[in-house]
Parts: sequence; C-alpha cells; structure tokens
Amino acid sequence: MTGFRLAAILLGATGLSAVVAAGAVPAPAPSIPTLYERLGGVYGIAPLVDNLVDRLLVNETLNANPRFVEFRQQVQKAGLKFIFTASVCHAAGGPEPNLDDILIAARDRVRFTDDEWQAMSTDLEATLDKFSVAADTRQSVRDAVARLRLPAESGSRAIATGHRRGPVLVGDDSADGIEYQPTLYGNLGGWEAIAGIVDVLVERLLVDRTVMTNPAIAAVTTRVPKPGLKYQLTALLCQATGGPEQYIRHPVLAPHARVHVSEAEWDAMLADLRSALAQRRVGQAEQDGLRALVAKVKGEIVTGR
Ligand code: HEM
Repeated sequence: MTGFRLAAILLGATGLSAVVAAGAVPAPAPSIPTLYERLGGVYGIAPLVDNLVDRLLVNETLNANPRFVEFRQQVQKAGLKFIFTASVCHAAGGPEPNLDDILIAARDRVRFTDDEWQAMSTDLEATLDKFSVAADTRQSVRDAVARLRLPAESGSRAIATGHRRGPVLVGDDSADGIEYQPTLYGNLGGWEAIAGIVDVLVERLLVDRTVMTNPAIAAVTTRVPKPGLKYQLTALLCQATGGPEQYIRHPVLAPHARVHVSEAEWDAMLADLRSALAQRRVGQAEQDGLRALVAKVKGEIVTGR
C-alpha cells in the first residue's frame, strides 16, 4: 500500500475535522513499501518477467503441450513480455494497467495441466534465484503470478474498451459485436505489434555507434534495464497511437533532459526506427503515422550539445 493510500484510509477513519478541531497535526503515517516498490517498480519487474518468459518459452514440459507450441509460434515474444510485465506490476500494487484479461485468454487457450503449472513454478523460482529476490518478497511474487490461475472475472476489460488489441490472443474482434473506430494502434496490430517494433528499435539503438558515443546516454543505459525501457516505450506508443494501454510515469520526455540528445543522434535513431519498421514489415501508411508521432516530440528531446 502506498503512503498516500494508507494516509487516506487513516484520515477517513479518524475524521479530518476531528483532527483539525483538536489542533493536532498527526505524525506522517509510516509508509509500508508495496511489493511493486520492493521489486524496484517497473524497471525491477520488467527484467524478472523478461527472464521468466525466456525460460517458459523453452520449457520442455510446456513444449510437450501442442496447444502451447501453437501459441508460442503465433504470439510475439516481445508482446507477451509487455503484457506479462503490466500484469505483474499491477498485481504488485503498481500504477500499470490491469491487462490480465489478455493473459487469461492465453491461459484458457493453452489449458495448462497441473504438471505444466508446476513446471512454470520451477522456472519462476529459478528467476527469483537469479535476481536474488528476498525470501519475504518471494511469496508475494508467487501470489501475483498464481492469481492468473484463478477463474476469469466476467466482463473483459479489453473488450469493454472497444479497441483492437492484436489478433492472436484476443481472437476475432468482429465477433464481439462492438464497432471499432480505426486507430493507428489497431492498424499497426495493437500492443503485440508495437512491442515487436520497440523490441527491434531498442536493440538497434543500444548498439548504435552514433547514439552510444554520447557518454551521458551510455552511462544511463547501464542503469536503466533494457526490458524496462522496452516496456515504457511500448506503453507510451500504445497510448500515443490510440490504444487503451497507458504510459504512467513522470512527464514522458523528462528523462531525456539529462542526456542532451544531438541532431546527429536523433537522425541515427530515425534510421534505426526505419529499419525496425521495415524488419517488422509495417505497412507504409502505418510507418508514416508512427514517424509523424515521433517527429512531434523532437523539439523536446533534442536539446543538443
Ligand atoms: C535519439 C533519440 C533518443 C535517445 C538517445 C533516447 C534516450 C533515452 C534514454 C537514455 C532513456 C533513459 C533515461 C533515464 O531513465 O534516465 C530514455 C528513456 C525513454 N525514452 Fe528515449 N531516447 C530517444 C528518443 C525517444 C523518443 C522519440 C521517444 C518517444 C517517442 C522516447 C521515449 C522514451 C521513454 C518512454 C523512456 C522511458 C522513460 C521512463 O523511464 O519512463 N525516447 N530514452
């Protein structure tokens, strides 16, 4: 629970007017860190999920299930990591959106057996070991993942939002009876396709000689985990293209102020973006749409040297 939520509950319980009338100023309530905070927020959780998903996709027990193999072949790994990261962040008490409905759709499609759930737990423990997650935090992480085993709540949020979400996990949108407005998000292929583009883009950027010779960028990228950066950029582009996912953090472009991006670095990034869009076989109109969105923020990112 955040300090703010705890404080709100405490004020509600005692009554704000009673506190004022007594002239007492309550001491700030001790804030109990949420699981989200204990794990280091989205930048701590995204690497955990990244590692776990990599393990699950090559897990022998899971791959003995033909429904899992079919699922693995159809869904983009980057998209799966994006959704799973949002789901764990949300369950851990973070501000990321609840996208469980998508994972639950996948679960219902694959229909894991008890042995397969057990195999996933074994992979989860290996991931928790790798990241040296403290013993008292582990059970909470297990609970956050295990709740995906529970029956789905009725009334899927994904469908209620009326957005195309990506073809593979949600299925045929035309069957849900909702009239969809075309958006760049939908035309691109939803979160799954956007996560795939971001995946290629970030991989390219991080080895781009022009970009990485900027010492401030090189220094920041040793601190900022690649999976976290991918998650945040995917969330931002989903939101900016008209999708229901939300980018939730400080003002979007604020972190760039300290890295002083130059014109040459911006152009190098645009070339990387062009290659990423080509590699992901994005249609010309959607490429133009995405590039136009990116161009709009240039003035805020290129502060030059
Ligand atoms: C040459 C161009 C760019 C460079 C060199 C660059 C570099 C970086 C760096 C170093 C960070 C980590 C900052 C930190 O946490 O301290 C970052 C974060 C981020 N960048 Fe960029 N960036 C560029 C362009 C863009 C563009 C065009 C967008 C969006 C359209 C974008 C979106 C983001 C987002 C969403 C984050 C994550 C911020 C967060 O933690 O929430 N960047 N970028």
